[in-house]
Amino acid sequence: MNDKNSERSIILIVDDNQTNLDVLFELLRNYGFKVLVALDGESAIEQIEYIHPDLILLDIMMPGIDGFETCRRLKADQPTRDIPIIFMSALSDTLDKVKGFQTGAVDYITKPFQHEEVLSRIETHLTIRSLQKKLEEKNAELAHLNQNLEKLVEQKTKQLIDQEKTAIIGRLTQGMVHNLKSPLQVIQTSVDLIETKATKIQEESFSNYTKYILQAVTKINQIMDTLMMKSRKEQKQDLQLVNINDLVQREIQLLEGNLYFKNKIRKKYLFDEEIASLPLNYSYISQVFYNLINNAMDSMWEKKSRELTIVTRQDESKIYMDIADTGCGIAPEDLSKLFDPFYTSKPTKGEEKKEGEPTGTGLGLYTCIELLKPFNGEIAITSNLTKGSVFTVVLPKQQKT
Ligand SMILES: Nc1ncnc2c1ncn2[C@@H]1O[C@H](COP(=O)(O)OP(=O)(O)OP(=O)(O)O)[C@@H](O)[C@H]1O
Ligand SMILES: [Mg+2]
Repeated sequence: MNDKNSERSIILIVDDNQTNLDVLFELLRNYGFKVLVALDGESAIEQIEYIHPDLILLDIMMPGIDGFETCRRLKADQPTRDIPIIFMSALSDTLDKVKGFQTGAVDYITKPFQHEEVLSRIETHLTIRSLQKKLEEKNAELAHLNQNLEKLVEQKTKQLIDQEKTAIIGRLTQGMVHNLKSPLQVIQTSVDLIETKATKIQEESFSNYTKYILQAVTKINQIMDTLMMKSRKEQKQDLQLVNINDLVQREIQLLEGNLYFKNKIRKKYLFDEEIASLPLNYSYISQVFYNLINNAMDSMWEKKSRELTIVTRQDESKIYMDIADTGCGIAPEDLSKLFDPFYTSKPTKGEEKKEGEPTGTGLGLYTCIELLKPFNGEIAITSNLTKGSVFTVVLPKQQKT
């Protein structure tokens, strides 16, 4: 028998029979329990309000409320419902036992008592109760840990989302800043030309250069607007019916400010004059166009014969803009990497490079995809290492407005 239970446990005996009380009191106290007594159900309930026993030995037949009712009341009350109750009765009637278990008792002992049996049953139920308590504590601990874990997961998820958002904004910003390079280059070239040829310059070409500069400044402003991360609503307000032929023609005019484009490349334009206009953000599409033209020009820098072909075409559901070059082409194994941010086959600025070799940051195509997303646009590529590449911008005609 486990005497650890007896060292600290309080047992309440409820019995109207003084002799019984005395016998049990002696037995339990000698065994080491702290023993409380009550002569009827009501005074037992009253007493329990002050001191919670660890176990109750409850007589069934008593004056006033009987043992069953006492048990029912104790089981109905939250603070006392878990105290194990063992019924004591002279009756060994089966029906009574069933009723006892139904009211919530854990066990039954019959009078006259066998001391060893009484002690053994008390010990057993105290042990069960103490194990139950430990289990409840562990469960509570587990629930607490679980809650903490959920909170932690929630926090971590939020942190990750925030980080990802910041990273996207960072990448987009870099992409947009990257797009400022072209118009700034136009301004630089035009200003250089004005400066070096200031005296010889014809009035007509002078006004051409200033036109380039003004157009480039407009472009920079548009890019800066995108950079300011306008809200979706504001972006919607920027939608306008864009005719892709007009866009290409205007942008080519601006590109004439780039001497490499103007003098070193043969150009072929094939426009579908019937092409549908779409509600688009002009600045976004022109930035896409610029990136693709720049890539095409870069790809041909070492070639003797440089030809750029721009085609606009359409079918029932989409419009297409092909930008074809006779450049270095793309190896099939590299095709899947092109749209990854920072993927570039070019030396980065400051890195060692051949004279005239273009540099790259690897953000051009990534930015194009981001800029086409609001319009469900895509870029398709066909490329050949000897003939060059065709980059096709595909835009669905059905645009959500
Ligand atoms: N027309 C093309 N012909 C051959 N390779 C191309 C062409 N367009 C893109 N590429 C390949 O795809 C890579 C990624 O292009 P992307 O425009 O994203 O970056 P980049 O041109 O290298 O640098 P930048 O950020 O200055 O545009 C290029 O480095 C190049 O290897
Ligand atoms: Mg590029």
